[in-house]
Amino acid sequence: MKPGPPLWLLAELTYRCPLHCAFCYNPLDFAKHEDELPTADWLRILREARALGSVQCGFSGGEPLVRDDLEELVAEAHALGYYTNLLTSGVGLTEARAAALKAAGLDHVQLSFQDSTREVNDFLSHTRTFDLKQKVARIIKAQGWPMVMNCVIHRLNIDHVDRIIAMADEIGAEYLELANTQYYSWAFENREHLLPTREQLRQAEEVTDQWRVRLAGRMRLFFVAPDYHDGKPKRCVNGWGTTLLTVAPDGVALPCHTARMLPGLRFPSLRDTSVSAAWYESEGFERYRGTGWMKEPCSSCEFREQDLGGCRCQAFLLAGDAAAADPVCPKSPEHGRVQEALQRAERGEPPERPLVFRDRRSRVTT
Ligand code: FES
Repeated sequence: MKPGPPLWLLAELTYRCPLHCAFCYNPLDFAKHEDELPTADWLRILREARALGSVQCGFSGGEPLVRDDLEELVAEAHALGYYTNLLTSGVGLTEARAAALKAAGLDHVQLSFQDSTREVNDFLSHTRTFDLKQKVARIIKAQGWPMVMNCVIHRLNIDHVDRIIAMADEIGAEYLELANTQYYSWAFENREHLLPTREQLRQAEEVTDQWRVRLAGRMRLFFVAPDYHDGKPKRCVNGWGTTLLTVAPDGVALPCHTARMLPGLRFPSLRDTSVSAAWYESEGFERYRGTGWMKEPCSSCEFREQDLGGCRCQAFLLAGDAAAADPVCPKSPEHGRVQEALQRAERGEPPERPLVFRDRRSRVTT
């Protein structure tokens, strides 16, 4: 059966970023792919994807505000009829740029922050951005955009969830996503620093539930559960090649932001391949569509159509095989690897390796 169109286009405009977050989802070898598409190619991709049926366009990175053609790209996306979304750290969002983006038709800004305290925020991003984020939040509000905030949650900030929610409320957030870290890329490298205990998680969920009652009608709170603790494979990116088309800064089309690390898969470059050919015909997108690629225990599992075997990138990182069941699933023969990591987190042993920050010069092991 022919797949539907890529409803969500994620334009990763650049890997350049003033922050160096220890849980960044950009590839470990991002420095090898820093070559960026020129404006004309992005404009063509926007048109082709929209003609195919894309309806939402996210501009992300790296930090998309480092591209000085962002306003032009947003204006084109808006004119084409996309719902447009900017995913930003806020660095570079001045009043003038916010006004220009508003005039270009930007619908939505998602501002990420790292913690409720200056110390942890600045430590985790390896930059001094805490005060700036408060200012940017005011700029976003002044433009009349819905105030959407995102905070990645992990062992080093999970005990501050109460204060994080209070801070988001003070800033006037209408939506707050507390997204537990997904362990790929830099977060996988730093997993022993970042994985919380079950008790930390339980308390954070309890606090979030209390705030939900208090903030009803004022702010919507999303607590994205971590799949390591849940033991439930997630339907990653809503299913490989079903909904999301990610375009890396150098123009490579990907079904998710980390798929390029999977061995033996070729992904097309949109410099010389049309969006339609990349989405419907390329080997990289076809490989893990649907359930035909599955082996046991996934192929006979009653949940295979729901979770589609979980995350391919996680299967590769933990089991060394992108076609294996996602090891967060208790049915996976490699589930012990997840349990081992969780037990280590419970014991609170000091990490064997230092925390590494996202940097083109950082030495990483995978
Ligand atoms: Fe790549 Fe889940 S992040 S399939």
